[in-house]
Formats: sequence, structure tokens, C-alpha cells
Amino acid sequence: MGWVKVAERGAVARDAGAEFDVGGTKVAVFNHGGLHALEATCAHQDGSIAPGEVKDGVVECPLHFWHYDIRTGRLLDYLKGVSLKTYRVEEREDGIYVEL
Ligand code: FES
Repeated sequence: MGWVKVAERGAVARDAGAEFDVGGTKVAVFNHGGLHALEATCAHQDGSIAPGEVKDGVVECPLHFWHYDIRTGRLLDYLKGVSLKTYRVEEREDGIYVEL
């Protein structure tokens, strides 16, 4: 698919996340020490991680509190070897872009 504009600049508040539908793929973008993009759907029960609390590079799924590293997508508790897919993300002059 390539690079897709998902939002205007500044659309994702600092230390927060937002979910975008990119051609049918749900992508969570976090603004926390730079922008990070990963699959928005939690590996547990398909909740969205986008509204989760972000702290020290980790997002907590708001449904049952599983934790993911927002840089690598790796699940940090409960199961080994589980990761959410990550995507490249850039803030450009005209908006936020994600590469799918
Ligand atoms: S759906 Fe994310 S922890 Fe349950």
C-alpha cells in the first residue's frame, strides 16, 4: 500500500494514542517520545490499545491491562513470543503518514 496520510499534524496528543483505519487495517499511533505506529487490535480479546495509558514506552490495553512496548509491539506480560505488528510512521509538513 505504501505511505498513507492518516491525519493532520498534531492530531495525536502528546503521551496519548489515536486509532486510524488505513485501508481496512486498524492502526494505533502513539505520540510518546516521537511517533510510533502499531497494530491497534490487542492480542487478548481484540480491544483497541489506542486509548490505553502510555508510560515509559509501554501502552496498557484499557480492557484487561496487557502491556505492549510501543516501539517493538512486543507483549510484555502473560504470554511469550506475542507481538503486534509495527509500522513506520512519519510526521510530515502536511500530516501524519503511516507505511503499510
Ligand atoms: S483486550 Fe486487551 S487486555 Fe484484553
